[in-house]
Amino acid sequence: METENRTDETRVDADQYLRTLEGFFQGEVTGEAMFRSMAEALDDSEHRYQMRVMQQLECETKELLREKVKALGGDTAESATAREIGMTQAKALVAMPRSKFIHIFKREVTKFVARFEEFEKAGPASDAKLLAAVTAHEKALLAFSERESSGASATALDPIVALLRVVPQRNLAA
Ligand SMILES: [Fe+2]
Repeated sequence: METENRTDETRVDADQYLRTLEGFFQGEVTGEAMFRSMAEALDDSEHRYQMRVMQQLECETKELLREKVKALGGDTAESATAREIGMTQAKALVAMPRSKFIHIFKREVTKFVARFEEFEKAGPASDAKLLAAVTAHEKALLAFSERESSGASATALDPIVALLRVVPQRNLAA
């Protein structure tokens, strides 16, 4: 591979890059399934709507990644296993008290933000826009959890909604 002798340490190996993007793609499949399952399982209509909005964010991020993975010749088949992981996670999360869910959600999303930021820095300049969007989507989820933790529930969805191409209608979550 032409990447073997690369001296620019900010670049990642092309194969490794594609594998990582494929992993991120499946991560969105998991996230989408998780939020969908949570939306179906929660009692509170506002909480259900929040999950619908996050499901949409995951879906839109998944499609961005699909486009890139496809262009690089990677695997864009949505993994049934990835979906099942999301559904299993949802089951555990909806069984928790709301405050515990937010706490765990924030903790997990924080890790992903760090991972995406690191990957964004190492990625090729030609994909800067895509990688920034991937980081931004996770940061919006983090902002949601921070706002929920600090009692600012009324505006918690705003950072996510700001990124969406299509904002779910509230009546669909009722
Ligand atoms: Fe995501």
